[in-house]
Amino acid sequence: MASRIIGTIDLSEYTIMDDLNYLNSVVKVAEEYDEFCQGYWQNLSLMNASGEAHDSLYRNSKIILPTHHLKKCTEISRIIQDNFELTGLKMVRTRNLIDGMVIPHKDFVELNKDYNYLRLMIPLQENSQCFNSDEFGVFQMRPGEIWILDAAISHAAINFSTNSRIFLCLDYAFSVENKNLNIFNKSAKILMENRHIYINRKPMNESDQDHIIEGLSKIISSFTLRDLLFAVSKYHFVYHVPVTAGFDWLKKAAIIAGDEESHNKINKLSRYLIEARELGERFSLTS
Ligand SMILES: [Fe+2]
Repeated sequence: MASRIIGTIDLSEYTIMDDLNYLNSVVKVAEEYDEFCQGYWQNLSLMNASGEAHDSLYRNSKIILPTHHLKKCTEISRIIQDNFELTGLKMVRTRNLIDGMVIPHKDFVELNKDYNYLRLMIPLQENSQCFNSDEFGVFQMRPGEIWILDAAISHAAINFSTNSRIFLCLDYAFSVENKNLNIFNKSAKILMENRHIYINRKPMNESDQDHIIEGLSKIISSFTLRDLLFAVSKYHFVYHVPVTAGFDWLKKAAIIAGDEESHNKINKLSRYLIEARELGERFSLTS
């Protein structure tokens, strides 16, 4: 299903600047999936199964505990308490992406199929240079908007600027029999506003794409593949091509170049990122 806005929280009721400053002062440590990002990408756990701030592993635990980071972010804590149900809530993070991109991928593909997963994203900062995308188009999320980001379809994110872009991210999981998906609590003050979400992108026809593929075929190799993947993944944010077009271009370019090693690698990578992966399975772009 396409990503969509389900309501808006009035952020002017919360003084979040100190919280944002705190989050931006936390030194980044290595994270899972770092290699699929370019630029500065930081996930900070505010609530999780263990209550440990360094624990970024998603689990379908019945318990959710605040971490040290949430205790430092009293206003963000209030946003959560005022508006959201804790039942079914599995993980709360803030995510920052600066001068960087998360390449197209799917989440939840390796998780237990007995659950329905729901990921909410709430931007806490204004940044006109940030874009998100999925299989239906490219869009910008505005501060306070509560988005259901369908992480089970291909999606990506980019920040073309060097300014901070902090999102609050809440992950819910409900057993498939549970038809009562309450995510807002009784005191929630959710505004309902409708707006057109998709941005207009420049057209790109088949022949434009063939030119790109031809160019890629001249420089594709096992040592350029990673850089090319980041480069081609940017196109869909600006041009009207599918979110995963870059994977297809690289596959075709590797065939034209007769580069079997790159062809195998991009096939394995696209399977890993956008088709299926086992729990704990890793794929390295750098190996
Ligand atoms: Fe994702």
